[in-house]
Amino acid sequence: MHNGKARAFTNIALIKYWGKKDQQLILPMNSSLSLTLDAFYTETSVSFSKNYTEDLFYLDGRLQGEKNTQKVARLLNLARKQAGINEHAVVYSQNFVPTAAGLASSSSGLAALAGACNDALELNLSSTELSRFARKGSGSACRSIYGGFAEWQKGDSDQTSYALPVESNHWEDDLAMIFVIVNDKAKKISSRNGMQQTVETSLYYNDWLKAAETDIKTAKKAIANQDFHALGEVIEANCLKMHATTLASTPPFSYWTPDSLKAMNKVYEMRQAGQNCYFTMDAGPNVKVLCPKKDSQKIYDELQKEFSEQQLVLAHAGKGIESLETE
Ligand code: DP6
Repeated sequence: MHNGKARAFTNIALIKYWGKKDQQLILPMNSSLSLTLDAFYTETSVSFSKNYTEDLFYLDGRLQGEKNTQKVARLLNLARKQAGINEHAVVYSQNFVPTAAGLASSSSGLAALAGACNDALELNLSSTELSRFARKGSGSACRSIYGGFAEWQKGDSDQTSYALPVESNHWEDDLAMIFVIVNDKAKKISSRNGMQQTVETSLYYNDWLKAAETDIKTAKKAIANQDFHALGEVIEANCLKMHATTLASTPPFSYWTPDSLKAMNKVYEMRQAGQNCYFTMDAGPNVKVLCPKKDSQKIYDELQKEFSEQQLVLAHAGKGIESLETE
């Protein structure tokens, strides 16, 4: 029996990963940059044993079917290959989210599984190797190896595509992110399918790639200068460009709902009234508002005029992946 357990925190991309050039290896079309947050995390334990006759995956206490086990099974296979064993595994994963609203994320889930496999099979992976390994479960997971800001350098091969921490002089500790949860129902188009459809059909995809290249440089410069407005402007624009690619794909689609627009408009209004806040959105309708930590209560209170307390989650910068004791 080989046991391992790890905890990883969710990261939110400020400059988005949107599109793969290699589906199997999960090599991205563009580099991305994220902030790891403290409010959402996953704890995962894995046991490999000769006594198991199949791989089983329990999420929040419930045994998952084949569809939800795919990403997990892929990482387990890679871990077995690397360790030179062929034992089946049982995986227990628990998502910790501050409200009943869901918001589970594959970034923390697959990073935690990568860490648990690394411990269980004593793979002794370095952070870079662990990031590469997690990437093959879900692209965004490669950034959750680190706390604070991380950059996933796209690279051009399995060896060269991984995330690294972004030097920030701890500026992330002065920031906050407020999640506006406008819809907790399962999304209709997964990020995996949405980005693939966009790569294949969106008229704007090449322009997205050009823009993402420039945006990541601008974002890194803003972080180095601790310039909140410069960072805010580029992350909001980058998110809007990503979402524009979906409207120009065939068939067209959008992750936005009327409530997403309501939240975006609220951010515009607050900014016009002199508040420091910018939004970003991923492959779903929820809106995430980046603001300085010192202003977060004021902005939270302002958002509460439009959204209920259950819909709002205040998060701060989170830590990198941690190994946990197995029971
Ligand atoms: C919009 O990492 O979930 O959140 O690699 O197919 O598992 P797979 O996709 P995933 O995509 C995340 C897309 C995004 C932007 C981002 O996190 O960079």
